[in-house]
Amino acid sequence: MADLFEPITIGAIRAPNRVLMAPLTRGRATRAHVPTPLMAEYYAQRASAGVIITEATGISQQGLGWPYAPGIWSDEQVAAWIPIVRAVHDAGGRIVSQLWHMGRIVHPDFLGGESPVSASATTAPDWARTYEGKKRYAQAHALDFDEIKRIVNDYRRAARNALAAGFDGVQLHAANGYLIDQFLRDGTNTRSDIYGGSIENRVRLLLEVTRALIDTVGAERTGVRLSPNDDPQGCGDSHSRELFTKAAAELSSLKIAFLEMRASRPDSTFRPAIRQLVPDIRRAFKGVLILNSDYTLARAARTLRSGEADAIAFGRLFLANPDLPRRLASNAGLNKPNVATFYSRGHAGYTDYPSESCLAP
Ligand SMILES: Cc1cc2nc3c(=O)[nH]c(=O)nc-3n(C[C@H](O)[C@H](O)[C@H](O)COP(=O)(O)O)c2cc1C
Repeated sequence: MADLFEPITIGAIRAPNRVLMAPLTRGRATRAHVPTPLMAEYYAQRASAGVIITEATGISQQGLGWPYAPGIWSDEQVAAWIPIVRAVHDAGGRIVSQLWHMGRIVHPDFLGGESPVSASATTAPDWARTYEGKKRYAQAHALDFDEIKRIVNDYRRAARNALAAGFDGVQLHAANGYLIDQFLRDGTNTRSDIYGGSIENRVRLLLEVTRALIDTVGAERTGVRLSPNDDPQGCGDSHSRELFTKAAAELSSLKIAFLEMRASRPDSTFRPAIRQLVPDIRRAFKGVLILNSDYTLARAARTLRSGEADAIAFGRLFLANPDLPRRLASNAGLNKPNVATFYSRGHAGYTDYPSESCLAP
């Protein structure tokens, strides 16, 4: 059984270890969603990850409603990603771009006052982050077929742009209550057409977009993220186990390079029916399976040893420990992530977490 520090082939990518960096939104791009040189420093510091999955990156203005998050739809954005990807490669790393459409989670402030879009006319609970503080979400407008086609093309363009910027691949963000997830789950998808109703219909958009990405970058450079572990941002499903097992089986038949999943901890108090979903997904998905959420060194090692997954993605630990694989390998102490600077601008809490080598006498 695999060890965290054994190499692994993930489609076209040869990763030297199985300590991956999970996607982490950090809000260090410009207000026009153009990546900045500071991001090159941040990602290059983390180049020892088996693979870096970037922060969620907007495929279009319509799909991006997070202050200072980067996009990848314009030539200016692509040009700004190039030195970031190069910095990671020069530091010996590998990096894939997480492609994001937020659907109903985009506040109208980002859309010139227009409504956001989703599977159905629903409203997200809670508050949106905007440039003017927190505001109530607005009701989404249900996408028609032409609009869906345009969104699939936006994903295609984003994937083409990711290749042009030099990325090693792309990951479709189908998790956490954003657009694809809004189509997957019956709590947010009440459509009665070919995109709603049965599980087969609700996975349709996920598969259409995944096929578009495969057409553009190749299956060996395409990954997907799902999050069956909870009801993120008010996006829940009545039959999560059936839904996500079906999604995993269909993705498996498309032969994508990897599936990354936020999975509940065994001791989670979340619905028992989906707490133990991982073995079902493992059986349904034949490619590389990466698990995430709350992993410690011991739990990650146990998970790989048991054959439950092929690699582990670390979020907050990577955020705070640029040299995480080395620290885990030597069982060294870990810096603690500072929540206050997760989304703040500038280098504090971003590029100033010390590496172990800096601490050495
Ligand atoms: C600051 C922050 C930003 C995040 N941004 C993203 C994101 O852009 N895309 C995504 O899929 N998940 C995002 N997540 C979720 C993480 O990828 C990960 O699932 C979560 O932190 C749990 O993993 P961990 O316990 O290893 O931190 C974010 C989490 C945090 C803390």
